[in-house]
Amino acid sequence: MAVRLHVNGSVREADVDPEMPLLWALRDVLGVLGPKFGCGVAQCGACTVHVDGQPIRSCVTPVAAVSGRVTTIEGVGATAIGRRVQQAWSELDVAQCGYCQPGQIMSATALLKGKAKPANDDIDAAMGGNICRCATYTRIRAAIKQASGQKTEA
Ligand code: FES
Ligand code: FES
Repeated sequence: MAVRLHVNGSVREADVDPEMPLLWALRDVLGVLGPKFGCGVAQCGACTVHVDGQPIRSCVTPVAAVSGRVTTIEGVGATAIGRRVQQAWSELDVAQCGYCQPGQIMSATALLKGKAKPANDDIDAAMGGNICRCATYTRIRAAIKQASGQKTEA
């Protein structure tokens, strides 16, 4: 079945089973490789993308259920908040192996869209579902603080 998806500002068509998870359609059919496969059961956050600005786990979201605009790590820098987040990530050298970081940045950007100056508790609540096996959590928190114009002590 042909499914039409809006991805990072472009209309893309994918001839897929409508039950295919969005992550598979993005990576294996459309070649959008930023979102990562981690657990496949909505527990790690590596696959996080936005649909109409809301973070979702693309590993458990069927393409047929996606009617809004999909933004991935490849497109998040088109917004001012996304740019600020990516810049802070780069300046604070957040990534270690990097595998979880696209999902971390997507969750952080969604957080800052909803709350311009998040406190530590807000960050913990919004980012708690994004696992980092390299334990970059302290730098992630600092980068979110920096992107929001707050002091960066963790
Ligand atoms: S791969 Fe989707 S949450 Fe882990
Ligand atoms: S940077 Fe390696 S898993 Fe997060």
